[in-house]
Formats: sequence, structure tokens, C-alpha cells
Amino acid sequence: MKNTEGTEAAKRAAGEAAAAEVTDGDLVGLGTGSTAAHAIRRLGERVADGLAVEGVATSYQSRALAREVGVPLVPLADVGRVDVAIDGADQVATGANALVKGGGAAHAREKVVDSAADRFLVVADGAKLADPLAHPVPVEVLPDALARVERAVEAAGGAPSLRDAERKDGPVVTDNGNLVLDCDFGTIDDPAALSAELSGVPGVVEHGLFVGLADELFVGGADGDVTRDRL
Ligand code: 5RP
Repeated sequence: MKNTEGTEAAKRAAGEAAAAEVTDGDLVGLGTGSTAAHAIRRLGERVADGLAVEGVATSYQSRALAREVGVPLVPLADVGRVDVAIDGADQVATGANALVKGGGAAHAREKVVDSAADRFLVVADGAKLADPLAHPVPVEVLPDALARVERAVEAAGGAPSLRDAERKDGPVVTDNGNLVLDCDFGTIDDPAALSAELSGVPGVVEHGLFVGLADELFVGGADGDVTRDRL
């Protein structure tokens, strides 16, 4: 799993607080990343204690972890709505209700699941807060459309960079078999407009701007405290 900023205690506090919101009978969207992993582990403990829920995974990682900790799964292909989704973020702008996601290259399935949720809970540590957003935006791209999308990103004022794999030569290949461009737009003053522009580029499978999707933000602190905010 990639290592991101923020203490493990802060991530755990946020993830576990969000997992406490899940109730019997819920279908739960299981986000990807180190913060969401704490929520999945806590859910596993609650299932062992008798909580009756099912999960839908957003990635190979969250599926494997859910299996390991005993959260029963339903396939994403069978899911049209979700009761509550719990997912992390790489950066959060609360004023604009906008997130940058995709640090784990899972944002395409994450957006399918998170946008289908009645309640989408974002879990993060304080280092993720920024207003305006200024984090490169991951863009998942059909491999054969790479040059086309790079050109479109540049035309939109961004600097695209193909994400390289670690411990494998060549690029990251997503769970969907695609490539990822990390696109630096500097500060993002209008995330909704940029989101719409990127969504309109042929060859873009999905991008990591999540605008207006989140319902609640759980921010963990290093001493285990959690601040909750409605978005
Ligand atoms: C994966 C994601 C993650 O939720 C995001 O990268 C945050 O990860 P972490 O909790 O490990 O900092 O969007 O695609």
C-alpha cells in the first residue's frame, strides 16, 4: 500500500469513527487507501460482533482486505445504490465540497460507488485539508488514448505526467487495465468546471475530482480525536 502523509493514529481515528456510523442491514461502499483500510478493519470487528452488513469493494486492495477481516462482499456489477460509502481522499476543500482522489489509482470504481451512496463519508487526516485544491488530479486513461488525453490536459492548462509503477518497470496499470496521468493544474479555483472539462475528453475513463458528492467529513487528529463536518 502506498504511504501518504498523516499519522497512522489520525487515519485510524477517522476511519473507525466513520465505521461506527454503519448500521445493521447496510450495504457499505468500501473505499481504497490507508485511511479507508482502518474503516474496513473496524467493520470486520463489528461483523465478528454480530453486525449484519455487506460491502462493495472499490479496488483489488479493499476487496482483499474485506475478505481478510470477514466483511461479506457483493460484486460491484450487482450494485446500483449503496447505503453508506466510506472513502479517503488525497485533498479536501470543504468550502467547495470538492475532493482530489486517485492516489491509489482506484478513483474510477471509487466514484461509481461513492456517487451511488445515500451517505458518502470522507475520512482523512488534517494534512489533507486545503482550500482551494492544489493537488495534481489523477486521470485514468484508455491506453491507446494517452497522447490524445495528454494534449487535451495541456489545452486545459494542466501538466500531465504518466504515473510510474513502483517495483515494476513501466507505468501503473489500474485494476481496469488503464493508465494514469497525474495532471498538475496548480491551484484549482473552479473544481466543478475542471471536472466537467476533463469528463468531456474522449479517452478519459474517469478523473479524481469528486465535486458535490461527499456528505460528511471525518478528520482524525494525532491524539485520536475526530472532527466531523457536514459538506
Ligand atoms: C485511492 C484514493 C485514496 O482514498 C486516497 O489516495 C487517500 O489514501 P490514503 O488514505 O492512503 O491517504 O483515492 O484511489
